[in-house]
Amino acid sequence: MLVTGAAGRIGLVTVQRLTELGALVTALSNVEHPDLKADRVVIGDTRSEADVADALTGVEYVVHLAALAHPSAGTPYDVYTINVVSTFNVLAQAGARGIRRAVIASSINATGIPFNPHGIRPAYFPLDEKIPADVGDAYSLSKQNDENTARMAWRTWGIDVVAFRFPHVNSPDVLARRAEGARRDPRGGLREAWSYLDTRDAAYAIELGLTASSSGAHTFFVAADTTNAPYETEALLDAFAPDVPRLRRFVGREVPIDLTAARTVLGFRARHELDLPTLHLEI
Ligand SMILES: NC(=O)c1ccc[n+]([C@@H]2O[C@H](COP(=O)([O-])OP(=O)(O)OC[C@H]3O[C@@H](n4cnc5c(N)ncnc54)[C@H](O)[C@@H]3O)[C@@H](O)[C@H]2O)c1
Repeated sequence: MLVTGAAGRIGLVTVQRLTELGALVTALSNVEHPDLKADRVVIGDTRSEADVADALTGVEYVVHLAALAHPSAGTPYDVYTINVVSTFNVLAQAGARGIRRAVIASSINATGIPFNPHGIRPAYFPLDEKIPADVGDAYSLSKQNDENTARMAWRTWGIDVVAFRFPHVNSPDVLARRAEGARRDPRGGLREAWSYLDTRDAAYAIELGLTASSSGAHTFFVAADTTNAPYETEALLDAFAPDVPRLRRFVGREVPIDLTAARTVLGFRARHELDLPTLHLEI
């Protein structure tokens, strides 16, 4: 199994989990990391045809996580080109070699909403995989393009690809700090639908993406079932997005993202939730 971006936040935890499950892991990373323990570590660039060919030797499954993971992680040119060339290179070479299955990291940002410079609102709640995108930054564009690359790779080589639209993914302590921020100022969380995912659950979703029997190239939202704000979701939406249509009512702190596809197709349900009270929202 190949994991790219293996020294990153999600990569390290994913390599550890897949190794614990008995997989032989090749890690491809452009940086060394003392905590990166894999059967084989290739230091290289996911844009390089030679580095990816080397890393794919003997590999049956691919997890592609390498990217500049934020619009401010580089110039717009670097963010866009590193991300889309890497995803093309990894999936095209994997497909051409006859590798049958890959998981890639898309993002909630494929919708274009969180980083949109115009403060746009979603077309409706709950967000789902069909929601219209409105992209205003290079990172979000790269993630939208990665989902297209997955479809192209499947059409061309028949490689099955699961693309995860991750929300903010982090360790429990960082998620708890962000939740405290959401308690003090819940308005800011609207752009990400107050969603989050524990890094261990991201690795679990990746495991399910690799072992599921789905075929084709498909995109899935994944997130914790609840929001990171200690208020009822209906109260948050009444306060901060009263003009956005709701396709259904939300129960308690239910995250306003439709997680049905990941649940039914992959069997995914987050195992690590923030333990928050439900407070009365005063604005
Ligand atoms: N963490 C999140 O909140 C989040 C949310 C949505 C999507 N994602 C996506 O998930 C994936 C992993 O995110 P993360 O949080 O672990 O990011 P990260 O920045 O911690 O890790 C990404 C890794 O990729 C490596 N990398 C970057 N360019 C490379 C290149 N050209 N060749 C080889 N390696 C390269 C980086 O050095 C880093 O180690 C990314 O694709 C990111 O866009 C992350």
